[in-house]
Amino acid sequence: MEYSGRCLKHAYALSIVVLVHISASLSLFHHHADATRCVEREGEALLAIKQDLVDKGDRLSSWGSGSEAQKQDCCRWEGVYCDNQTGLVLQLDLGSAYSSGKISPKLIELHHLTYLDLSGNDFNGSQIPPFIGSLTNLRYLDLNSAGFGGQIPYQLVNLTHLQHLDLGCNDFFVYVENLNWLPHLSSLKYLDMTATNLSNVFDWLEKVNKLTNLRNLTLELCDLPPPFLSTLSHINSSKSLASVDLYGNNVISSIFKWLCNYNTTLVHLDLSSSKLSGLLPDVFGNMSSLGYLSLSDNQLEGGIPDSFAKLCGLQYLVISFNNLSGYISNLFESSCAQNSLEFLDVGFNQLAGPFPDLTKFLALKTLYLNTNQLSGTIPEGIGQLSKLEEIYVDNNHLEGVISETHFSQLSKLKYLDLSSNSLVLDFHPEWVPPFQLDHLYLGSCKMGPLFPKWLQTQKNLDFLSISDAGISESPIPSWF
Ligand SMILES: *[C@@H]1O[C@H](CO)[C@@H](O)[C@H](O)[C@H]1NC(C)=O
Ligand SMILES: *[C@@H]1O[C@H](CO)[C@@H](O)[C@H](O)[C@H]1NC(C)=O
Ligand SMILES: *[C@@H]1O[C@H](CO)[C@@H](O)[C@H](O)[C@H]1NC(C)=O
Ligand SMILES: *[C@@H]1O[C@H](CO)[C@@H](O)[C@H](O)[C@H]1NC(C)=O
Ligand SMILES: *[C@@H]1O[C@H](CO)[C@@H](O)[C@H](O)[C@H]1NC(C)=O
Ligand SMILES: *[C@@H]1O[C@H](CO)[C@@H](O)[C@H](O)[C@H]1NC(C)=O
Ligand SMILES: *[C@@H]1O[C@H](CO)[C@@H](O)[C@H](O)[C@H]1NC(C)=O
Ligand SMILES: *[C@@H]1O[C@H](CO)[C@@H](O)[C@H](O)[C@H]1NC(C)=O
Ligand SMILES: *[C@@H]1O[C@H](CO)[C@@H](O)[C@H](O)[C@H]1NC(C)=O
Repeated sequence: MEYSGRCLKHAYALSIVVLVHISASLSLFHHHADATRCVEREGEALLAIKQDLVDKGDRLSSWGSGSEAQKQDCCRWEGVYCDNQTGLVLQLDLGSAYSSGKISPKLIELHHLTYLDLSGNDFNGSQIPPFIGSLTNLRYLDLNSAGFGGQIPYQLVNLTHLQHLDLGCNDFFVYVENLNWLPHLSSLKYLDMTATNLSNVFDWLEKVNKLTNLRNLTLELCDLPPPFLSTLSHINSSKSLASVDLYGNNVISSIFKWLCNYNTTLVHLDLSSSKLSGLLPDVFGNMSSLGYLSLSDNQLEGGIPDSFAKLCGLQYLVISFNNLSGYISNLFESSCAQNSLEFLDVGFNQLAGPFPDLTKFLALKTLYLNTNQLSGTIPEGIGQLSKLEEIYVDNNHLEGVISETHFSQLSKLKYLDLSSNSLVLDFHPEWVPPFQLDHLYLGSCKMGPLFPKWLQTQKNLDFLSISDAGISESPIPSWF
């Protein structure tokens, strides 16, 4: 489930990037259309590549067809981008072409290629062709979701100029034997090997540490073994790692020691669905650039450390599905993320104490405080958070009266869940809310005895739950 979900998401995001890329490049190409002239040998190589593919996405129909001029000039074919002076093919973009078949060895004729995108095709479990290792000018290689299988060829070792390598979401079901080729890709800034079975590569972190220019590392769902303790400190490793995504592995809390090395550079960190346990470490407080932190679905316990208040640029914080306890207010008191925090999810923990004072967190769009031990009333100040779109506070011990004031500025609200608390809703009978909800859950909120008239104003509701609301009006009014 998780596997395909993540990989589909990638494929989708990717296709958007590809589209943007195509339209940008196409306009460039039209502009210089007269200056380009395909090299005959490369045109023939492209036709051989077409020959070996089943063009299900109809992306290759312009190759070798059209007017006489277009037939001859491969620089005018879709997905082919040439140097405008020499006419040599520099970029080949077959991303999301939905083609199947095999990759012709003629590909290596395109020796000047710097950019090759074969993502989103179906090469039916065949190995990545080892001859790709001869395309030594490549800077960008995207083989995400391309149905490759078998072992990753060692020949990649020669791609020493590669800056961007995406091998994610293929069918490398057989475990990868080693990553001995990886440290040779010394220009690498971006590496994604999502859903590649690395369970046997015990020195994966040592290999990654040798990539001194690495900025983005994505190894989701790789069955990573725990790292060697000796590799946790870095000596010659990247100094500028900005993004680390190890979602869905068995990483344990020792990984924090390695992440300490990047306390000033990390912007994005995802360690969700892992085996983290024990207390949340103080080191996060020192990660001054952190904007995105997800630690959800682990076995973390104890309180939220005061050091979290130092994360001034935090936009996205997800620590749901752990066993965190203590007062939730620690997270908000003296936090300097007031102007940045947009997405907060601390749901499904044991957090207690009164409902936090959120009045200064004016950027908040999504708030999950559900399934905790919060008690007391919900302060009216929440009604000032005019960017709020989603509020989930269900399954707590909240009590008291909810009035119009709680929603006074919430014109963007779409999702509201107040259920399974001890709340009383008391609105003026003629109240016209500033929002149009599409999901509303008010189970066990007291609002009777009449059907609440304000519900009439909500024209877009997809889901409504008002069970156990103390409504006794009978018969049910016709507007309802
Ligand atoms: C070729 O492209 C470069 C940059 O992409 C541009 O600066 C140059 O003007 C172009 N030359 C011609 C002849 O179109
Ligand atoms: C895909 O590979 C399988 C097993 O190797 C083979 O039986 C099947 O014919 C291949 N399908 C295509 C379309 O090549
Ligand atoms: C890498 O390139 C060198 C020099 O071109 C060549 O001798 C070697 O065989 C290549 N290695 C692989 C694994 O392709
Ligand atoms: C990875 O490969 C190992 C060894 O073949 C196997 O035991 C393990 O189940 C595989 N992991 C996944 C997630 O498929
Ligand atoms: C670190 O880099 C220096 C210089 O490149 C080299 O001499 C040294 O052996 C490297 N240390 C390690 C542990 O790789
Ligand atoms: C690398 O990570 C940074 C920080 O999260 C992000 O801004 C950037 O877009 C990522 N680069 C790529 C190519 O995805
Ligand atoms: C955080 O940074 C401070 C000063 O910059 C340092 O004294 C402290 O040891 C660091 N804490 C951690 C856990 O790295
Ligand atoms: C980052 O971590 C290093 C070593 O772990 C520590 O010496 C340094 O003070 C930390 N810097 C900050 C800003 O926290
Ligand atoms: C969560 O923590 C509480 C005490 O804080 C403990 O009683 C409980 O067993 C823990 N639950 C899990 C699943 O670890």
